[in-house]
Amino acid sequence: MRNAKIIGIGSFAPEKIVTNEDISKIVDTSDEWIKTRTGIQQRHLTDDKTAVSDMGFLAAKKALDMAKITPDKIDLIITATCSPDTLFPSVSCIIQDRLAAYNSAAFDLSAACSGFNYALSVGSNLITAGSYNNVLVIGADALSKYVDWTDRGTCVLFGDGAGAVVLTSANKGEGILSSCLAADGRGKNFLVLPGGGSRNPMPKSEKERCIYMDGKEVFKFAVKALEKYLLKAVNQAKLKIEDINLIIPHQANIRIIEHVANKLHIPINKFFINLQEYGNTSSASIPIALDEAYRSGMIRKNDIIATVGFGAGLTCGANIIHWEV
Ligand code: ACO
Repeated sequence: MRNAKIIGIGSFAPEKIVTNEDISKIVDTSDEWIKTRTGIQQRHLTDDKTAVSDMGFLAAKKALDMAKITPDKIDLIITATCSPDTLFPSVSCIIQDRLAAYNSAAFDLSAACSGFNYALSVGSNLITAGSYNNVLVIGADALSKYVDWTDRGTCVLFGDGAGAVVLTSANKGEGILSSCLAADGRGKNFLVLPGGGSRNPMPKSEKERCIYMDGKEVFKFAVKALEKYLLKAVNQAKLKIEDINLIIPHQANIRIIEHVANKLHIPINKFFINLQEYGNTSSASIPIALDEAYRSGMIRKNDIIATVGFGAGLTCGANIIHWEV
């Protein structure tokens, strides 16, 4: 048996920045409310011409450059997204073509904001099983395109972006040490994008086309699930929570992260937080944060990193990573 390790990482966020102040000119909100209730100060938003594959492609190129791997060596591409360019073909096939990574299989994975943790686990397990050798894992979303800009409860939360990692085979004890994935479909109605699927392919109203969220229910699930599955992944890796050098949580709300830190008696500075700059970028949030933490020197070779997130479904996932680069 072998493991899988990350050998390249990259991310991308659109240039356009929308501040809380900007949003307060559109809906009845304030910088003060958004900052205190979520921690978010600004977010990067795509323009009309940019789709998720455009952002995912740019992040993937950076990850491949760092890995020093040519696209023809990639044998699988998995893109975690809940806002694909089209229902089909998959974002992964579009990116495969742009990279000319024609020796790869390619598919998308849907687990909303938990998508990157799910995709990392699937990619890593397929390498461990011996099915693939070099897997490109992308997390990319543009939820700002599905936000109801009259709903102050949701439009302040989301930003757009992409992140990617290159996985390759590793020795036991290296790279991804454990993965823990979970879902609770009983919460399926708490966070929904109702339009565009087969139940309602041609939404007639703006409301049906946009994200619906029961924020309080999602919050309650998030704090419990993050704690439970982070600990489970740590146990599976035969480690203790104190062994973790840095936790990369899904960047949804500072209060959710603080809650988990308090519950687990972990100092808040063990959590990498960049939601103030990006908002909630859904499946891009963890790879963008991981990339920033690595590039700012907060992650060093041989560190133990935990990624943990939650999302619509409701879903949750965590990975424990021995950092190898
Ligand atoms: N500005 C000003 N007031 C607001 C805003 C706003 N942007 N949004 C809501 N309010 C008001 C409400 O109308 C309400 O007013 P009322 O008391 O007069 O009725 C009051 O603020 C409190 O509203 P709550 O919804 O109770 O606010 P809460 O403290 O729960 O915060 C929030 C809302 C930030 C959405 C929080 O519930 C949350 O973060 N939940 C988790 C959401 C999340 O992480 N979603 C992403 C999931 S990932 C994925 O898969 C896409």
